[in-house]
Amino acid sequence: MQDKSIELLLVEDNPAEARLLQDYLRAVTSKQFSLVHVEDLAAACDRLSSESFDLILLDLTLPDSKGLETLEAMIGKAPSLPIVVLTNTDDEELAVELVRRGAQDYLVKRQVNRELLVRSVCYAIERKQAAEALRKAKDELEIRIAERTTQLAKTNEELKAANKAKSEFFTNISHELRTPLNSILGFAQVLQRADNLIPEHKESIDIIYQSGNHLLTMINDIVNLSKIEAGKMHLDPQYLPLPEFLKTVVEILRIKAEQKVISLTYQPTSSLPAVIHADEKRLRQVLINLLGNAIKFTEKGGVTFKVAMLHVKESSAYPEASIRFEIADTGIGIAPEQLEKIFLPFEQAGNSRNKAEGIGLGLAISQKIVQMMGSILQVQSQLGEGSVFWMDLDLQVVTGIPRSHPSLPDSE
Ligand SMILES: Nc1ncnc2c1ncn2[C@@H]1O[C@H](COP(=O)(O)OP(=O)(O)OP(=O)(O)O)[C@@H](O)[C@H]1O
Ligand SMILES: [Mg+2]
Repeated sequence: MQDKSIELLLVEDNPAEARLLQDYLRAVTSKQFSLVHVEDLAAACDRLSSESFDLILLDLTLPDSKGLETLEAMIGKAPSLPIVVLTNTDDEELAVELVRRGAQDYLVKRQVNRELLVRSVCYAIERKQAAEALRKAKDELEIRIAERTTQLAKTNEELKAANKAKSEFFTNISHELRTPLNSILGFAQVLQRADNLIPEHKESIDIIYQSGNHLLTMINDIVNLSKIEAGKMHLDPQYLPLPEFLKTVVEILRIKAEQKVISLTYQPTSSLPAVIHADEKRLRQVLINLLGNAIKFTEKGGVTFKVAMLHVKESSAYPEASIRFEIADTGIGIAPEQLEKIFLPFEQAGNSRNKAEGIGLGLAISQKIVQMMGSILQVQSQLGEGSVFWMDLDLQVVTGIPRSHPSLPDSE
């Protein structure tokens, strides 16, 4: 079966050259060519408007156009048609430039023969088709990317709106929840102090108090995370006496460690600064979270809390110190595949017994707070051996306490 004939537009003002090319094509047996011959650019444009072609054979030097202009005019008129440029021997440099500008190939007139002509024409058509297919695929891809980007931007906006609504909801509902909860806790405390209770009732009231307290912690955690996510949590750094602050934190946790009959060892380095500039409430929250976790997930051995000065920068008026807070335990440890997840909200590793004692927000909140403080909370753990959590905080420190400072607690 013979292929459909290849329609060529030959733009050539020299009749002899045109005749020669026509003869070559006529003699081809493997393919069928039909050729329309015009002698100038204007006629070529006319033909292109009314007929369809597979390829243009283009002489560069025409009565109404020369060189690069001829090519540009043709590409402008028929951007999807392959063009093979016909050049004279001394035009070769220009021909290379023309190929760069969009012609598929060039043929030097004196060197053309039948095989060369057919090969160049067929190759140019194929190349142009491949280029067109590629261009079309690229255009489609760009459209798809643009659509996807618009969709993503929309989803992002929706997510932001949903997140804002969620944060507002939590903040509002937490207030509503905390008010009755505070009454429950308050009256439970009043009842705990009553001396006419039978032991059974006293135990029940203790449970009410503990559970209520636990519920309050969880509500506070959810509100905290919502605030952080809504960008509404801000640090409020004040001057605070570091050794006293740390001792209080340890005392709060000591009761819990004693209840579990594990050790809690506090090891501050002797060179700790007397005063640091930090958000006391948030730093306490992070340390209680970390120490609380360490105690919660340790059954044997104990927890060691180390605080050490890494280095001091003396450059500014108040020196800045890098202080490492490190909490190590000999507890259950964390599997490597869980290590990254534990900082995500509501992620809990390990068995269900431990999970029952929290909702998995402690580390997510702590990590965000530590990041707000310009550092990062880090962890190393070995399953069955224990875990170490630590953070290096760069804090302004005061070695001689400035008594005049209004927010500095009395050191006595
Ligand atoms: N010291 C630790 N040893 C072993 N596993 C730990 C330790 N600290 C955290 N984890 C693991 O990381 C999980 C997430 O900790 P996170 O403090 O965020 O949540 P939680 O303690 O379970 O609950 P919440 O803090 O909300 O009361 C824990 O459930 C536990 O699986
Ligand atoms: Mg926790």
